[in-house]
Amino acid sequence: MKKKLVKQVTAFYKECFGEKPQHIILSPGRINIIGEHVDYNDGYVLPAAINKYVCFAVSPNEDGKCAIVARDIDGHYEFNVNDELKPVDKMWVNYFLGVLHQLQGRDGLRGFNIVFSSTVPMGAGLSSSAAVECGFAFALNEMFGFGLSKEEIALIGQKSEHTFVGVNCGIMDQFASVFGKKNQVIKLDCNTLEHNYHKADFKDYALLLLDSRVKHTHLTSGYNDRRREVEEGLAVLKQHYPQVNTFRDCTEEMVLAVREELGEVNFKRCHFVVKEIQRVLDAVDALEKQDFATLGALMLETHDGLSDDYEVSCAEIDFLVDAVRNDDNVLGSRMMGGGFGGCSITLVKKDAVDGLIERVSREYKEKFHIALEPYKIKIAKGTTLYTE
Ligand code: GLA
Repeated sequence: MKKKLVKQVTAFYKECFGEKPQHIILSPGRINIIGEHVDYNDGYVLPAAINKYVCFAVSPNEDGKCAIVARDIDGHYEFNVNDELKPVDKMWVNYFLGVLHQLQGRDGLRGFNIVFSSTVPMGAGLSSSAAVECGFAFALNEMFGFGLSKEEIALIGQKSEHTFVGVNCGIMDQFASVFGKKNQVIKLDCNTLEHNYHKADFKDYALLLLDSRVKHTHLTSGYNDRRREVEEGLAVLKQHYPQVNTFRDCTEEMVLAVREELGEVNFKRCHFVVKEIQRVLDAVDALEKQDFATLGALMLETHDGLSDDYEVSCAEIDFLVDAVRNDDNVLGSRMMGGGFGGCSITLVKKDAVDGLIERVSREYKEKFHIALEPYKIKIAKGTTLYTE
């Protein structure tokens, strides 16, 4: 699948620009085992890069022109490398402009030609946008020798999202896309960016994604609202507990004690955050002990919190989780990513995967008249230069 993508992009590049591209870059989407909506709350997350990629074919040029071709949507955008960059109407272009904006003025920057294409489904909560941002930053770094570290690439991707896309996201997606390792999940401390890897070996179980095909169009406003609510909540907690700097320092008791002052909505948000931060630590523990039943139970708790307290799920995703939670072959399931649509992630017995897909697809179709899209993913390496 990866090879086919590379071949197609390379061929299309030759068609567009009449020569072979100098570099091929693959930048993956991501999953997250647990730790949702806590990356911007100083928590921990447990993501991994997956074998779905945005592929870039790139070469520098000498005429200062930047030409970007989006193969999948037949999109094309051109500008000069020294132009003053501002967000534009074509959303896909902003992922590029936001990254370049941060690198303009660097020694060595010249014009470039790019063709890109993706097997990361868009709007499915698999971070296709982070894959584009980080892959493009990686490509610029490769072409012009900026000497950027992986961490810098991830941070540039995140900032681009804030400034040119308008989602005030945390660092999880970009970090996972850049730092992913084959068959390893990343335990990331979102406060310090310290991280370590844990073996993603679930023995008789597999991770299965079920794409609701509900595009998360409300994500931007819903996401930014949540950020505001937890910020307000944290300010109240800080007033009462001077020792509190971040949610990391908060206990459930503290949140319960100031419930009234927080108000019901902000209370629910803060309560979720504090519990989710702890759940990730418990999940890592369970993973290390290969206690997958506990891991699965924690995933279900996360889902209920995201649905009832953080209120970022939707009817379709709730349905997908409820459809599997009492299945004997399933240990856990939950909505994944920012929410308001996208995928669920389910820990299911390997030999029961196909049966589960068949059953849930049928039930989902009956209820919502939508064809479910299942993804059997593998955990893969982060953004990388492709060599034959
Ligand atoms: C989106 C954001 C991430 C993270 C998740 C929720 O994917 O980009 O930073 O906050 O939502 O965990």
